[in-house]
Amino acid sequence: MEPMTRTVPHLSILLLLLMALVACNATGTGDPAASKIDVRPFGATADGTAANLFVLRNGRGTEAHLTEFGATLVSMNVADRGGERADVVLGFDDVSGYESDANQYFGSTVGRVANRVAGGRFTLEGRTYQLATNNDPNHLHGGDRGYSHRMWRAEPHPSLASVTFRLTSEDGDEGYPGRVDATVTYTLTEADELIIEYSATADQPTPVNLTHHSYFNLAGAGSASVLGHELQVNADRYTPADETLIPTGAIESVAGTPLDFRAPELIGARIGELDDTSALGYDHNYAVRSRALKGGPGAVMAAGPVAVLSDPSSGRTLELFTDQPGLQFYSGNFLKGAKGKGGAPYAHRSACCLETQGYPDAINEPGFPSVLLMPGEEYRQFTVHRFLVD
Ligand code: BGC
Repeated sequence: MEPMTRTVPHLSILLLLLMALVACNATGTGDPAASKIDVRPFGATADGTAANLFVLRNGRGTEAHLTEFGATLVSMNVADRGGERADVVLGFDDVSGYESDANQYFGSTVGRVANRVAGGRFTLEGRTYQLATNNDPNHLHGGDRGYSHRMWRAEPHPSLASVTFRLTSEDGDEGYPGRVDATVTYTLTEADELIIEYSATADQPTPVNLTHHSYFNLAGAGSASVLGHELQVNADRYTPADETLIPTGAIESVAGTPLDFRAPELIGARIGELDDTSALGYDHNYAVRSRALKGGPGAVMAAGPVAVLSDPSSGRTLELFTDQPGLQFYSGNFLKGAKGKGGAPYAHRSACCLETQGYPDAINEPGFPSVLLMPGEEYRQFTVHRFLVD
């Protein structure tokens, strides 16, 4: 089947952008005409392929920096309550860092299946597939060289401060069945929203579960700890997991556990009360409320945020909106001090990830929302990161 291709962002994104531009003009807080993209060199991969850095900028001076390697968000420069800008996501100064072992999926687009697949194995239509067990004994984030470690093709849309990245994942890629044609479009609005729109088609039944893997520290990437950030997660339930972080299949209430973030709470307040698992901190999938939304980013935002992260010291706040059923909250437990942008060490728990996705191991759990993509269907996902100050 010929894959569906698209050369401009989805209509609903254009509508949302238009709304944001109108809102900006009404309040006089931005100059829409200033929105644009600069393209800068970002080094070359080991095989000599040049990478670019796409700098999206809005009229407020907020910037999102993206590269084709892993369709990755490299930097997100946002103001604090005094107008001071900082880069609030972890990453590297050029593409070689992203190719290195120090790259723990910083800012990347993860696929074909984000999160874990038990034993790296699943059965589809009577055939069993064995994937790489790169997170022994399980498969993690698409395998040895998943979508996060591939060169996507970039199509910038400069007048919209938007870039589309495209990837063809061939039949058998990392052991998965069928060819997948995936796109991810990042759009920076005048209202400091980073909209991420995903789409994918397949020529055989195959699991598809894409996510965005930014590590946030709203005090600035390289700041010592994220334990003083406040978090709210609008989820009543989560999927308990075994010691290798594979869900047991149960979906349980967060009430009375350190996972209950229904009211805002400091990340560090109860992290020590978590059961002693190999996760070493928060690394849990929430079953978020009111999902399975159709209708693009407008509908997703109208449903309210699934999570709100804020840094009391800077006043920077991140609201996260999605149509996905799952949210993996990971408190950066496996960061070990490797040096990132500007030589800053990224210490244990110095940043956290809020990954919108299907549930872990959903391909092996009939009781979980399906992550199976069939030929003729289109996988769609909208996730919006809105940056504010309190
Ligand atoms: C997972 C962690 C994993 C990390 C890798 C997160 O999405 O939940 O368990 O260690 O990615 O960087």
